[in-house]
Amino acid sequence: MSLEVRNLRKVYSKRFTTKPPLLAVDDISFQIKPGEIYSLLGPNGAGKSTTIKMIAGLVLPTSGEIKIAGKNSSGPSYQRLSAILEGTRNVYWRLTPLENLHYFANLRGVPSRLVKEKAPALLRELNIDAKKKNQSQHLSRGMLQKLALAAALITDPEVLLLDEPTLGLDVESGRKIKDMILRLAREEGRTILLTTHQMDLVEEIADRVGIINHGKLIQEGTLPELRAIFQSHIYRLRLKGRLKWADKWKKAHGLTLVQRQGDVDLYEIDLKDAKGVSGLLRYLAGEQSKNKKLELLSLHRVTDELEEIFLRVLRPDRGAS
Ligand SMILES: Nc1ncnc2c1ncn2[C@@H]1O[C@H](COP(=O)(O)OP(=O)(O)O)[C@@H](O)[C@H]1O
Ligand SMILES: [Mg+2]
Repeated sequence: MSLEVRNLRKVYSKRFTTKPPLLAVDDISFQIKPGEIYSLLGPNGAGKSTTIKMIAGLVLPTSGEIKIAGKNSSGPSYQRLSAILEGTRNVYWRLTPLENLHYFANLRGVPSRLVKEKAPALLRELNIDAKKKNQSQHLSRGMLQKLALAAALITDPEVLLLDEPTLGLDVESGRKIKDMILRLAREEGRTILLTTHQMDLVEEIADRVGIINHGKLIQEGTLPELRAIFQSHIYRLRLKGRLKWADKWKKAHGLTLVQRQGDVDLYEIDLKDAKGVSGLLRYLAGEQSKNKKLELLSLHRVTDELEEIFLRVLRPDRGAS
């Protein structure tokens, strides 16, 4: 089942203060196909959780549309959606893992017979001990998150919403959850929306990424597309010795001193196109002939890393668009 949101907005009005209303989600639209993992990536407060909650039907949108399999979301298609919200509180601590699965399944109208059939394999795949004595309140954070995932999956959802699914987890649990998400999309064709501010998670599993900041979706694409867009010609160079840059270079290429450590300076420069590199090297050679102590320690392009792309997209004066 596809998931589509169109012009989604959420204004939180601050009832008991004189503060102006907060535009938490500002006209967001995107579409996710079955079998696709779409990641909303953005810093804290960007509006990720609010978006998830609106799609899950927990927060009422101020305006906009949410469609599942092409239909407005209030209908029966909602039965095919599960969400894991931020943190791990959406499992019942006093119940054993297995009881939790029964509890959540029954709430959603899944017959116990089916739970009995499916729960053992699910718990086994996630390495969760179903034992009665092992009450959920004694489980680790990673275990609780895996259990929340199992509880979400017991209803056999077609659309899965995951808010920061691996945040703060131990490596082992994080790995398990990532593998599971990949399998759910790749092998079972489920539609997955996940939010995160963790770059590594996006790199590892997202098919497409929407970068969100201040409630706005400011860039969207596959990882290769995002890399291509932001494959601007920004280089970072480390130089030993002070450089007397001609002002015209600073102005023409937006050269900036990023860091100074002893007599080593780190500069960033936007060369506009690849040809600029030879110009830069010629310029440096000229400088070196005047100042023999000057040494180019390294020169590399920086925007291939997703982290760098992210920082650049969020920068108000970003060069690419
Ligand atoms: N229930 C709420 N009432 C008022 N403001 C809220 C509420 N929930 C979130 N916000 C605000 O909305 C903005 C977006 O929050 P959120 O969706 O949680 O962002 P994210 O998940 O990306 O960190 C933040 O400024 C946050 O303080
Ligand atoms: Mg959040």
